[in-house]
Amino acid sequence: MLKLRLFNFSQEDYQALATIHNDAYADSRLRATDFKRIDDYTPQDEYDWERTIAEWNGKPVGYGLYVRSLWLKDPDLYTIGWLTHPDFRRRGIASAYWDHLENEIFPERSMTGLLVDVRSDAPDGVPFVEKRGFEQTEVRTEMVLDLTTFDATTFAEQSAKVFKRGIEFQPLSDLMEADDDYLKKLVELANMQRKDEPNAEDQAPLTAEMFQNYYMSSDTFYPEGWFIATHKEKYVGWCAVLPNPKRPTEVSNGITVVRRGYRRIGIATAMKVHVAQHAQSMGAKQIRTSNISTNPMLSINKMLGYMPRYDSLAYRKLIKES
Ligand SMILES: CC(C)(COP(=O)(O)OP(=O)(O)OC[C@H]1O[C@@H](n2cnc3c(N)ncnc32)[C@H](O)[C@@H]1OP(=O)(O)O)[C@@H](O)C(=O)NCCC(=O)NCCS
Repeated sequence: MLKLRLFNFSQEDYQALATIHNDAYADSRLRATDFKRIDDYTPQDEYDWERTIAEWNGKPVGYGLYVRSLWLKDPDLYTIGWLTHPDFRRRGIASAYWDHLENEIFPERSMTGLLVDVRSDAPDGVPFVEKRGFEQTEVRTEMVLDLTTFDATTFAEQSAKVFKRGIEFQPLSDLMEADDDYLKKLVELANMQRKDEPNAEDQAPLTAEMFQNYYMSSDTFYPEGWFIATHKEKYVGWCAVLPNPKRPTEVSNGITVVRRGYRRIGIATAMKVHVAQHAQSMGAKQIRTSNISTNPMLSINKMLGYMPRYDSLAYRKLIKES
């Protein structure tokens, strides 16, 4: 029968997370190490997080998480998540986890609200959260570009206009050697991106440590394919290839950002073309990205030929005013 227990951080438990995730979402596979890496740089006392495993007759069949959103301006917003293995749905497992949160976890904390993401193609996710008082705040569209047919020469003229202005694209690997201030400049751009990207929740500024943990300690960190748009000494944008260690033919396009004062002159478009070309040179067959539906980046992606895969729906439940 059903038992909820705390995650025990063993290799078996990390593997259970990956197995349940991959059986539910075969198109977005994760490894046990992907979960462990997130846990390793998220101090439990600071972020007040906890994972839970659901067992059915001793077999792990679901997992849940709550975590304080220190990356947001309001740190008393918590993000929660739950996934039940597809073969064990409609047995009250997610409801049992929700009841545990509501009865034992929430009353002990001064939360202002809860955030949750639901895939639009996941059966029952939307009614589950809406029944529990969550309201939709934004839609993130997951997209993919077919690199076997993408032709960068179609965009060569547009890119040439950008280069004529003295903008260069340099791999971060070169700048890490040549520029002592590279980290400071990257963090500044990251924080400009966090301020300017349309987002339902206000973002907190990133520290250099958070930046390094999240972007540079990952096994998807690939400075040879992380391109910085420079204008003389200034960093005016970036766009990156994030390799997929398990599936080298499926890479992702990391965040794209362009410095204020350098926008609407085609830099983002030219960088995305450059990144797609670099991914092709690595032998990748497809490149993935995602955007909030109100971000102008969505129109750039469509123009380049990205096709939608599914939507990720963001929901919020207000508990009290911050
Ligand atoms: C989104 C962003 C990267 C676009 O950079 P950019 O270099 O200005 O984009 P481009 O000049 O290549 O724009 C190409 C086309 O996209 C569309 N577009 C770009 N910005 C737009 C905006 N603010 N409003 C409406 N359309 C826009 C236009 O069609 C534009 O062509 P046009 O200028 O000839 O009309 C930049 O605004 C930015 O850094 N925003 C903050 C961070 C962010 O949201 N990043 C994306 C997250 S992945």
